[in-house]
Amino acid sequence: MRRLILAILIGFMAPSWVLAESEEGPKLQNANVDLNDRVGLQNGARLFLNYCVSCHSASMMRYNRAAADLGIPESKMKANLMFTTEKIGETMTVAMQGADAEAWFGIRPPDLSVIARSRGDDWLYSFLQGFYADPTRPTGVNNAYLPNVAMPHVLWELQGIQRPVYGTEKDETTGKSVQVLEGLETDKPGKMTEVEFKKSLRNLVSFLVYLGEPAKLVRYRLGVAVLLFLSVLLVAAYLVKREYWKDVH
Ligand code: HEC
Repeated sequence: MRRLILAILIGFMAPSWVLAESEEGPKLQNANVDLNDRVGLQNGARLFLNYCVSCHSASMMRYNRAAADLGIPESKMKANLMFTTEKIGETMTVAMQGADAEAWFGIRPPDLSVIARSRGDDWLYSFLQGFYADPTRPTGVNNAYLPNVAMPHVLWELQGIQRPVYGTEKDETTGKSVQVLEGLETDKPGKMTEVEFKKSLRNLVSFLVYLGEPAKLVRYRLGVAVLLFLSVLLVAAYLVKREYWKDVH
């Protein structure tokens, strides 16, 4: 019995060990993704199609599926948001050839269809805010969450430019003091305020979460329909019960 209790306790403790290990690197910010916010998701789609598909594909998503799921009229999708194809039934492929991408960035930008499932929404939200000026890099920027990233800071016009704040820390094994990135601060403001930019990123990351699991939206809607159905059933059942018991009393 005691062993069983011990085993259960260890079972409960295991996840906290995993968490403790993954706490390296800068702290993640909470993305607060909202899949019920339709207007937000539409804005996310707009940002994604304007700023990301020039390099990244989302090969598991078709334009007409996204248009239907998010309530974007197909004509609007076609006229304003489709840059790589004319056909609404096509998948979101990339404008750039893979070989060109490798030549330019040294690495092929990954397909983003399921990125929210592999990286997580908080990581994406933080990563997209984590670009800072670094003249030693070929793109002129580095990223606090993905050091030496090959991706340029594509949202710099919106966010502005950040500069790094360094601190020194003693390296425990060598005893030498090393420079560590402590935070980022605004160097040049962008077109958006910080609050506006964060809101846009929240929309963009929500769209990426939708992209990773489009059925989630259907499940959300189905859930509401099921609850409505059950409440109607409840009223009906109550009325039937009242009818049956009328003669008993
Ligand atoms: C100019 C081309 C370009 C554009 C535009 C671009 N990216 Fe990237 N992106 C890259 C490259 C190249 C990489 C690979 C970086 C690396 O591994 O060092 C990358 C990597 C990423 C990663 C990290 C993937 C991983 O897990 O390693 C994410 C997430 C990402 N991009 C999201 C976006 C989003 C969201 C947008 C639109 C706002 C965007 N990118 C626009 C070129 C681009």
